Amino acid sequence: MFGTFNRIVQSSKIAFHLSYKSSKKLTILITLLTIINGLFPSTLVWIGKLIIDSILNSNMILSSWQDILHSDTAIYVYLEGIITILYFGSQKLYFLCTTLLRIKLGQEVNEKILSKAITLDLTQFENSETYDQMTQARSEASSKPLSMVNRFFTITQSSITIISFFGLLVKLSPLASLILIIAAIPTFIAETRFSNHSFRLFRWKAKETREQVYLETLMAREDNAKEILLFNLGKEFLNRYKLNFQKIYSEDKKLTMKKSVVSFFLGLISQLAFYGTYVWVISLALEKKITLGEMTMYLVIFRQGQSTFANALSAFGGIYEDHLYIENLMEFLNLPILQKFGKIKFQNRKSGIVFDSVSFQYPGSKTDSLTNVSFELGSGDKMAIVGENGSGKTTLIKLLTRLYTPTTGAIYLDGINLIDWEEESLRKRFGVIFQNFVQYQFKVGDNIGMGDVNQVQSEEQWIGAAKLGMAHDFINRLDLKYHTRLGKWFQDGRELSGGQWQKIALSRAFMRSEADILILDEPTSAIDAEAEMKVFEHFREHTLGKTVILISHRFSTVRMADKILVLEQGKKTEWGDHDSLLAKKGKYEKLFRLQQAGYQ
Ligand SMILES: Nc1ncnc2c1ncn2[C@@H]1O[C@H](COP(=O)(O)OP(=O)(O)OP(=O)(O)O)[C@@H](O)[C@H]1O
Ligand SMILES: [Mg+2]
Repeated sequence: MFGTFNRIVQSSKIAFHLSYKSSKKLTILITLLTIINGLFPSTLVWIGKLIIDSILNSNMILSSWQDILHSDTAIYVYLEGIITILYFGSQKLYFLCTTLLRIKLGQEVNEKILSKAITLDLTQFENSETYDQMTQARSEASSKPLSMVNRFFTITQSSITIISFFGLLVKLSPLASLILIIAAIPTFIAETRFSNHSFRLFRWKAKETREQVYLETLMAREDNAKEILLFNLGKEFLNRYKLNFQKIYSEDKKLTMKKSVVSFFLGLISQLAFYGTYVWVISLALEKKITLGEMTMYLVIFRQGQSTFANALSAFGGIYEDHLYIENLMEFLNLPILQKFGKIKFQNRKSGIVFDSVSFQYPGSKTDSLTNVSFELGSGDKMAIVGENGSGKTTLIKLLTRLYTPTTGAIYLDGINLIDWEEESLRKRFGVIFQNFVQYQFKVGDNIGMGDVNQVQSEEQWIGAAKLGMAHDFINRLDLKYHTRLGKWFQDGRELSGGQWQKIALSRAFMRSEADILILDEPTSAIDAEAEMKVFEHFREHTLGKTVILISHRFSTVRMADKILVLEQGKKTEWGDHDSLLAKKGKYEKLFRLQQAGYQ
């Protein structure tokens, strides 16, 4: 219990810190308003009592308006009026401030989450637990931290109100006041216990919730529409969506019902206690032990005290739930940075790439995707990788570019183990276009410019790169040329054909003029034969002295490489140039003949 309390205090601190960071002024203003608003109710009740008592105490019968307006009672009434208006204004201001704070705080938290996301390692992205954490953190970033801060203020405000009520009540009977508070405790316990439970359910349920979100995107996104239409999958997916919902709903329902029943019975205890005190106060007034003004005041205090209490209690319950969100958020933000890079920055000696008995197993996978692969590639050499689907070609590239680290063995670039390279200087060396390159829903120019983050906006560079990537001609035929937005996410977006997208990706690779190791993972599979020939001519001209690694299933391009690596089920089975591999009459020769026969 104490541990939990401590953790809640920690989370509150974090929430406050976030809120203060997102807006100092608003946080301070809200704090002040909370204190003021907490004092208003008891002040109003107190003046109410004074009004009634002053009416009862005045012996004169006032007949003219003049007299009424100048009576003692009237002064209290004016005061009550002024304070009521101030209270109203102060509440509205509080509401305005929290609305503004919500927007700022949401942005602050989202920025934190995204800043973390961009430092995550690929293995962390692929880890479903981490992904869950991130999805949850993101889905409520704009509501939960603010809600925690809000609830905290509600509790503070209610406490101030209750304490000041208490001050007024003590005269009546300290015992009665205590009973009222004790009666509220069972409700509080029920509230916190259940919110713990509901978050657990929420977490555990994340898999189903995620499936739900996935099905929604599947059905509602343009890119999937054609296949879903033609395969008539709409109804099938909708059914899955409904079934999944039923599962989630039945769990939610069970919990909500249980919660309602328990909180009804526990709430009943509090109600009875309130009612008992109520009866007692009226009997005191009948016995003339308290004035009518006092009686009214006590009754109002009971009523308002009860609802203030209820507010504070539900805020307490909620704070626990928010605290669990904040804990999840912090867990995510504190995820360790897995990929440790070294410090070595520059290296003049260009000795090329060495794979030394490299094996690799994807996290969570039981078999090796690469087994004991060794080879040496001189700087400036052109290498091609050949192999069936799933033979480990893309995996090899991911290891070489340090998206993953070998399970055993080591990879050296210019004589230095990749682990010891400093991150940025290593990344600069590579220009990679993956099979599933990103299709940015930005304008054409950006899509090409992203190849060199320092020159994203340089139109001159775009054009140069697009010419080499054979994209310049079709881009010029687009309405806004290099300023045409691509993709369908935005209204003015224009969709490209598969081959055209590949040409854009190739241009992006050409944009990366600083990189001296260029890697193309099947970049030309959708490009027509003539354009492909030209692209490779350009590639040869512009990659003099640069290392090129090319993955392709087309032997017309593979055969031009200095070194060809043949992979079979993650193992290196052949290595050499085109002629020597043909002479060997192994797998390469077989595949080559097969494709040749297809063209005859
Ligand atoms: N992220 C991943 N997590 C787990 N296993 C993976 C992952 N990516 C690939 N694999 C597995 O690793 C093996 C090698 O995959 P890889 O993508 O390297 O093949 P490839 O040679 O590039 O195939 P293709 O010609 O189809 O592109 C495959 O068995 C694949 O199932
Ligand atoms: Mg691949």
